[in-house]
Amino acid sequence: MDLGLAGRTVLVSGAASGIGRACALAFAREGARLALLDIDDDAGAALQRELAGVPGAGASRFFRADVSDEATVSGAVRDAAAAFGGIDAVVGCAGISGPVGLGVEDVALSDFRRVMEVNVTGQFLLAKHCAPFLRVAAGSSPGAGAMVLLASDSSFVAAPGMVPYNASKGAVLQLTRALSVELAADGVRVNCVCPSVVDTPMARTDLGETSESLNARDFPVQSPEQVANHVLYLASPASAPVNGTSLVSDFGYLARSSFPA
Ligand SMILES: NC(=O)c1ccc[n+]([C@@H]2O[C@H](COP(=O)([O-])OP(=O)(O)OC[C@H]3O[C@@H](n4cnc5c(N)ncnc54)[C@H](O)[C@@H]3O)[C@@H](O)[C@H]2O)c1
Repeated sequence: MDLGLAGRTVLVSGAASGIGRACALAFAREGARLALLDIDDDAGAALQRELAGVPGAGASRFFRADVSDEATVSGAVRDAAAAFGGIDAVVGCAGISGPVGLGVEDVALSDFRRVMEVNVTGQFLLAKHCAPFLRVAAGSSPGAGAMVLLASDSSFVAAPGMVPYNASKGAVLQLTRALSVELAADGVRVNCVCPSVVDTPMARTDLGETSESLNARDFPVQSPEQVANHVLYLASPASAPVNGTSLVSDFGYLARSSFPA
């Protein structure tokens, strides 16, 4: 299937690691041009070099931005749009898990606030500052003007010891819906992807994994490349009628009833 992403400009937050990195590489293989946003300068610069070696890739540039800081987000988005002549699609991957394994009484307010700032405020700021460019893209090219946010299966279900993260991902799900409704009149689509455990540095750290992979676990684990496939579809003109939805990628767990059959 031709996703129609060749020559499109895609801005990815949290691009330097895990799912964001896999998305950047997958978009590059489709011939897209990439604006890479992250706080990790070294990993961002390394990814930019790696993207240059991807056959058929468009240009890519790294922009340092902390998604929870409005000044750096607006500056990076403006610089990216100026460098590439606009922005056709946006992917919000930047996120943190915060304290994992702590009961609610032991969660510091500062930690709760930080998770909300990065995971929720960060997606809001990305949407706020990218929306003007996505409107232009939607108006000038069929199927352009798409935003994909990384939510989580934690948007729907909860595990103990993850109160801040669960709360933040519930908010990202509803932020997706609110943005999709608000921006639909201008042709801008907003969807989210909700994966269960993905084999990335975030999940390895949270699960105390010291090796390079989560594959030997007794629960299903998906790869960042599998999540990137969902993101590319939702960011592409191929999904033009899809808006305000959440693509749950969890091996079917959410669909399972408690009925003992
Ligand atoms: N790994 C999983 O199991 C899993 C499952 C469901 C959803 N997610 C979500 O997917 C997204 C990506 O997660 P990942 O597993 O790839 O994590 P990761 O830690 O591998 O990558 C996250 C990236 O975000 C960047 N980042 C963190 N805070 C930032 C900030 N304030 N400003 C800009 N960049 C910042 C980091 O530098 C890093 O490059 C997150 O939103 C996460 O909640 C992950």
